[in-house]
Amino acid sequence: MGVSSQSFQAILDDLYHKYKTLDDGKVASYIPELAKMNPNWFSICVVTADGRVFVAGDAEQLFTIQSISKVFVYGLALEDHGREAVLSKVGVEPTGDPFNSIIRLDEYSKRPDNPMINAGAIATTSLIKGNGATERLNRMLDMFRRYVGHDVYIDMSVFVSERSSGHRNRAMASLMRHFGMIDDRMDESLDLYFQQCSMMVNCRDLAVMAATLANRGINPITGDRAVPTRYIRDILSVMYTCGMYNFAGQWAYTVGIPAKSGVSGGIIAIVPRQVGIAVFSPPLDTHGNSVRGIKVCEELSRQFELHMFDPPMGCSHLLEQLGAVRGEG
Ligand code: DON
Repeated sequence: MGVSSQSFQAILDDLYHKYKTLDDGKVASYIPELAKMNPNWFSICVVTADGRVFVAGDAEQLFTIQSISKVFVYGLALEDHGREAVLSKVGVEPTGDPFNSIIRLDEYSKRPDNPMINAGAIATTSLIKGNGATERLNRMLDMFRRYVGHDVYIDMSVFVSERSSGHRNRAMASLMRHFGMIDDRMDESLDLYFQQCSMMVNCRDLAVMAATLANRGINPITGDRAVPTRYIRDILSVMYTCGMYNFAGQWAYTVGIPAKSGVSGGIIAIVPRQVGIAVFSPPLDTHGNSVRGIKVCEELSRQFELHMFDPPMGCSHLLEQLGAVRGEG
């Protein structure tokens, strides 16, 4: 990145102070428990692929991970079943529709479009292997533990709130059951989906999870493998094309790195082999993305030329490799 640790920390602090007073957006309220979040909560955390941690704001504040969980459960489904089997149940096509849209789930398509929208995420969760609800939940929590580097817990109030207000998710699950996309453990899988959304994390945890993806599946703090390297490509591809709801195209154009947001106000973004970025701030824009989170990521991408298609990255890496081969010859 060509920047000292001190000046990088100073840049994060500046971004934090610059956007702390921005009060656009609304805290999600369609799940009653989420409405209790404080709109002033705000933190930024960057973890490098070699395990250095930079924090601005209160990165210890706990909140529920929500849709950011979809990324990691997708990885677990791939690990449990392999690429082809997962692809037969969940596609990889962006929709341009809101995350909770049910309209494309019809007799013609049957298969949900991608694992980042609710329908696809429920289908993905239904693929988690295990003998009964407890074993499946424990396998899921164990997977999250490898990413964050410590035990994780579920916020029971949010879980119950999700479950009692999740009629639309239940409708999607029933349709997918009818189409044969999910098996007869539908209620168990829905509970598992509500539980994964209700898992508690803080901004630092999210940045470590993001850095684990940046570091090809190995947690850079603990050294534990969280997901096989061969699935990083699958995970980052769908994050890039589908991770920011129906803002994904604009995000790819302006910020240009794989990312995922959640309705509690978290965003993770991954610069492969370099850093994992996390921002947490509950007020959301009309797409459901954190307003301050988008601003911070846009600025970081611009200042450090993080966009995938900024010249210094992919191309020069390939050129380096070509140079090495030529040198050997
Ligand atoms: O299914 C729901 O309503 C939420 N628990 C999902 C949360 C979320 O962040 C939606 N985003 N894709």
